[in-house]
Amino acid sequence: MKAVILAGGSGTRLRPLTLDLPKPIVPIFDRPFLYYQTDLLRQIPEIDEVILSLNYRPDRIEARVGDGTDAGVPLRYVVEPDPLGTGGAIKYAAAGIDDTLLVFNGDVLTSIDLQAVVRRHREREARATIVLTPVDDPSVYGLVETDDDGNVRRFLEKPSPDQITCDTINAGIYILEPETFDRIPDGTKWSIERQYFPSLVDRGETFVAYVDRGYWLDIGTPESYVRAHRDLMAQRCAAGPFMGRPLGTVYRGAGCRIAEDAEITGPCFLGTGCVVEEGARIGAESVLGPGCTIGPGAVVERSIIWRDTVVDRHAVVRDAVLGERCHIEHHAEVGPGTVLGNRSTLTAHSRTPL
Ligand code: GDD
Ligand code: MG
Repeated sequence: MKAVILAGGSGTRLRPLTLDLPKPIVPIFDRPFLYYQTDLLRQIPEIDEVILSLNYRPDRIEARVGDGTDAGVPLRYVVEPDPLGTGGAIKYAAAGIDDTLLVFNGDVLTSIDLQAVVRRHREREARATIVLTPVDDPSVYGLVETDDDGNVRRFLEKPSPDQITCDTINAGIYILEPETFDRIPDGTKWSIERQYFPSLVDRGETFVAYVDRGYWLDIGTPESYVRAHRDLMAQRCAAGPFMGRPLGTVYRGAGCRIAEDAEITGPCFLGTGCVVEEGARIGAESVLGPGCTIGPGAVVERSIIWRDTVVDRHAVVRDAVLGERCHIEHHAEVGPGTVLGNRSTLTAHSRTPL
């Protein structure tokens, strides 16, 4: 069995973080997000290859992830000449495959039991099986109505408020039989959500829903990207470096140097080789990527900071996301909701927002 991870989107909503780092390799703690998905796919021993369907900055992904040695599964890259939409991309990536295919949207964080989904698909001899998750507001997702026997009765992508009839949405995880791809035209933009799924319903094909009530999150916005870290630190999702550790753990990577009077409150994450100088304070729900330096008397609270960033003496970073190799100069203040791209500098005593 092969799996396709749809990872071709340009990650617009996560800009500036995704300007030179595509969404699949945006780090969660110190690992590319993609690895959280390959960890799940490894639950299914039958999966012998994971195909990454790409078009935005494939070079960066390949350079970071290589042949999949770190991911623990053989990886292959399929790059579309132009974005083909979710449906076109799946068909393009699955060329030559006639075996059942598992498909994952490249931005969902979950701890779902994938084996159970595959079992359901086989028991029901489905042409397609889709994982659903309940959410409060279905309007930014694909709304999926089911009948009492667990069959999909309607698929409506990004419903308007008056079209919302239930709370179950497409979780972005599918099991598909490639013979159904005959309806997807070659080389044209085509949507799995707006075209392929409605067509399965229209033609009365066996299209099965698997409702999962466990943890699920689309990490596609800065807010949900931060939420993913908080949820993993609080162990609301069974994945990542905090799993199985006591609640409130201060996770320290190898080679960190922390001054004796620095104040560090868990849960928080300090990547390898971080330096926290005297009198600095790292509050709960903070994440420092590898090689960060937090200067004397500086404060970091509820923020995600990528690798090799320097927060200089007496600077403050609160409720913010900072990219790699940023420099927050001394006495500068980075305030709530700020997102700074890689290599940003905030000069001494500057403040954001007003
Ligand atoms: N290869 C390729 N080519 N991948 C693509 C393309 C494309 O043209 N367009 C989008 N993708 C990838 C994105 O990288 C992402 O991993 C996935 O397909 C879904 O695209 P998003 O842009 O993140 O869509 P969304 O979040 O608005 O909605 C989708 O996900 C929701 C769940 O998070 C839909 O599938 C909804 O129905 C679903 O509820
Ligand atoms: Mg998404």
